[in-house]
Amino acid sequence: MSANTRPRSIHGLRTYKQRGERFAMVTVYDALTAAILDEAGIPVLLVGDSLGMVVMGHPTTVPVTMDDMVHHTAAVRRGAPAALVVADMPFGSFQTDMTTAKRNATRLLKEGGATAVKIEGGGPMVDLVADLVRIGIPVMGHLGLTPQSVNQFGGFRVQGRSDEDAARITDDIVALEQAGAFTVVLEGVPSGVGRRATEAVDIPTIGIGAGPDTDGQVLVLPDLLGLTDGPLPRFVKAYVDGRSMIRDAVKAFQSEVAAGEYPGPEHRY
Ligand code: KIV
Repeated sequence: MSANTRPRSIHGLRTYKQRGERFAMVTVYDALTAAILDEAGIPVLLVGDSLGMVVMGHPTTVPVTMDDMVHHTAAVRRGAPAALVVADMPFGSFQTDMTTAKRNATRLLKEGGATAVKIEGGGPMVDLVADLVRIGIPVMGHLGLTPQSVNQFGGFRVQGRSDEDAARITDDIVALEQAGAFTVVLEGVPSGVGRRATEAVDIPTIGIGAGPDTDGQVLVLPDLLGLTDGPLPRFVKAYVDGRSMIRDAVKAFQSEVAAGEYPGPEHRY
């Protein structure tokens, strides 16, 4: 599908599932990169709260604030004015009470320009999802290894390994679909759990470390670009060695400056 015919509405995403076509979602945090991803034809841009870890240098996503999310979502929207942009509701912005959650979700659409919000969790979050959908806010769900619960999980651990946990994920995805979620991210679960959850619903699922059978796949952009340092989860695939590319480029700049080669005649006024 070409960049200009791909679905850009939340309803368009269902078309992928109906046609049996796989699709990609990529995280993004700024205008420049959003424009490039949009040019590349990525159908869903996610302003993930992974922002806290990959851009802001926090060890988890827990410290990310509403102001952080609004600021970066607005930048992404400026870079990709027509894209389907989904913004994460950060930890603490939706768990306390419905009124606060609705106010914060509204901010992401009004001030950030998001098309939809993403909310981590099933069970207690299902009523909130239904309420947001009722007031016109599209919601993407997120189940499995939900990073905002890292302290509850005791680390970034694969979820859904026991039969009971796996069954709960399937129950949760069905409940989220009934509540009106237009799609659900499945993160860090065994492939069989990803497959069963995907088969249980008509809405598309988007996997990250959830095996090959989800309808879409998402990666965190700095991981995909090979920019992230340190040990990475098994599901990460770097499509370029961005870290070396940046290091080599700035080193080349530095040595040309030291040698008096830059700026050359063509770079002068
Ligand atoms: O915050 C994020 O980047 C995410 C993706 C990993 C799905 O939630």
